Amino acid sequence: MSASRFYITTPIYYVNDKPHIGHAYTTILADVLARYHRLLGEPTHFLTGTDEHGQKVQQAAVANEITPQEQCDQTVVRFQELWEKLEITHDDFIRTTEERHKTIVQDILQDLYDRDEIYSAEYEGWYCVPCERFYTEKDLVEGACPECRRDVEKLVERNYFFRMGKYQEWLISHIESHPEFIQPAHRRQETLGFLRQPLGDLCISRPKSRLSWGIDLPFDADYVTYVWFDALVNYISGVGYGSDAEQFASWWPASYHLIGKDILTTHTVYWPTMLKAIGIELPTTVFAHGWWLVGRSKMSKSLGNVVNPMDMAESYGVDAFRYFLLAEMSMGQDASFTEEIFTTRYNADLANDLGNMASRAVKMIVRNLGGRIPPVPEKGEDECELIETTLAAVQNMRDHLVDMHLDRGLAEVLGAVRAANRYFDKMKPWALAKAGDTEALGRVLYNAAETLRIVSGLLYPVMPTKMTELRRALGVPESKLAPSLDALSSWGGLEAGAQIGELKTLFPRIDVKAKVPKDESKKKKKSEKTPEGIVDLVGIEVFSAVKLKTANVLEAEVVEGASKLLKLQLQVGADRRQVVAGIAKFYTPAELVGRTVVIVANLKPAKIFGIESDGMLLAAKTGKELKLVTTDGQISSGAAVG
Ligand code: ME8
Ligand code: MG
Repeated sequence: MSASRFYITTPIYYVNDKPHIGHAYTTILADVLARYHRLLGEPTHFLTGTDEHGQKVQQAAVANEITPQEQCDQTVVRFQELWEKLEITHDDFIRTTEERHKTIVQDILQDLYDRDEIYSAEYEGWYCVPCERFYTEKDLVEGACPECRRDVEKLVERNYFFRMGKYQEWLISHIESHPEFIQPAHRRQETLGFLRQPLGDLCISRPKSRLSWGIDLPFDADYVTYVWFDALVNYISGVGYGSDAEQFASWWPASYHLIGKDILTTHTVYWPTMLKAIGIELPTTVFAHGWWLVGRSKMSKSLGNVVNPMDMAESYGVDAFRYFLLAEMSMGQDASFTEEIFTTRYNADLANDLGNMASRAVKMIVRNLGGRIPPVPEKGEDECELIETTLAAVQNMRDHLVDMHLDRGLAEVLGAVRAANRYFDKMKPWALAKAGDTEALGRVLYNAAETLRIVSGLLYPVMPTKMTELRRALGVPESKLAPSLDALSSWGGLEAGAQIGELKTLFPRIDVKAKVPKDESKKKKKSEKTPEGIVDLVGIEVFSAVKLKTANVLEAEVVEGASKLLKLQLQVGADRRQVVAGIAKFYTPAELVGRTVVIVANLKPAKIFGIESDGMLLAAKTGKELKLVTTDGQISSGAAVG
């Protein structure tokens, strides 16, 4: 990474569908890194955008009965609105359908063709439509696409090829001599492993007869450019390559291309060889992060578990969502999202530790010290310990910015917050206030507030709005609300006499019970207590008022945003009904389809998590286990149970 300037990119996202939590993650990560580098005083450029050509977009347009350009124009807005909502501070947003990009792709293609880096040949291979990739026979896994395992089609056609293969040895030696080029290290091993096989040439064209939505090849009007050969170029066309030499020289090579692990090969094999052929230096680092899973499953439309970042930001606040994503994903590994994991971390880190510390310190200064920061006090042993922990967090955060372990940096910062809470509890400032020991009280409150000044500065790039509120409340002057990282490295920045402001609750606790609907009948039993000694007997007439019936599970899917719920479609005799059941922790949707279950058929319909539920499944439960009640062998659905 160059010390003097910082250029960071995200992948440009396909506009075949609206953004999800994975897109939000990469973009927030890039944003946080860009913001940190700005706080370090480095000139910073942050580029994101959209990948608008290719089969995926064309197929989406066909499905939506609009033109590909309309598909792009409608969907790009979803990304742009989301980035605005999530407070993303990109310097530029590139769309591959823009002239400034298309011209550069064509210039590069023409140049490579003129220099025989691109040639035409007949090609026979296997093609995976969803992945848009050609494979040779030996690439296939059990005759299917090695990436997605779907069926492939055999194709013979004339195409244009980039002489990628001839750069194989050069690429291996570049990767080996530049350990920083592919990060983390296990991804570097993955690419080197891939390069142990002979590297073929890359098909960079698509005949228009098969795919028309792309950039025309400048030397053959019957073809468009392969979408990856077009898309990767955004990283240079977006900073003036071929159009503004000065701008290009000031940003390139990129410090970081941030990507998900799904697009490692394109970024660490195709892209560097393309750059080599064009004659451009390689980016410093391609960093591939892990995958967001929902529970333990991959996110997918068909599972209905796609997490919508706009909804998350609406429900829990932008800053909390940003914090969660960065703190929860151990960089380089996969992470799991569920509403429960979110709530647990939110309540622990933000509501309890940080929010509580902030509110206690600010309130006590207002109440007991006339709302003014006390003079910088003498330090005792406890103070020294707190200061040491806090300043170590600053250094660790700076180190983790370089080694790309933001999650660890954030854990250190929260460690300092916890240390401040412990210090507070030990010093009992409320008792000092009562005893009228103003000097000791001033010492405790100063140190608590000063820890918060530093911590809020470190968290500012992650939670800009909330940390601005906190810093303002702490009496930090307007010009320093966005901190310089250097100003966080020394103790004693709060000025004596500075006016403390008002602070609204930063992170209201999420009431877990209110969020996850519990079984209604259970709640009732607890509230309507039976007087002791009276056995709760019912007559047959009460029991038979409850109509129990067998039902067959036709479909089952997880409920987006509710980790415990499954939505089931049931056949009950001649009727169809939908039931929402709190059994997702115990059964996967696939396990349920085809099973015969027992339902309460005459339960009043209710809305659970906003979804109609008409009936209730019977299940045997203990605290930890749950088993559905089923029948002892086959019986038709709709049969009375009793
Ligand atoms: O691949 N977890 O676009 P794309 C974490 N247009 N990150 C995820 C994710 C998940 N479950 N799902 C997606 C493309 N991402 C190409 C890129 S670049 C020149 C062209 C993020 O819309 C992650 O950054 O499929 C991944 O690499 C990217 O979205 C893929 O987005
Ligand atoms: Mg993808």
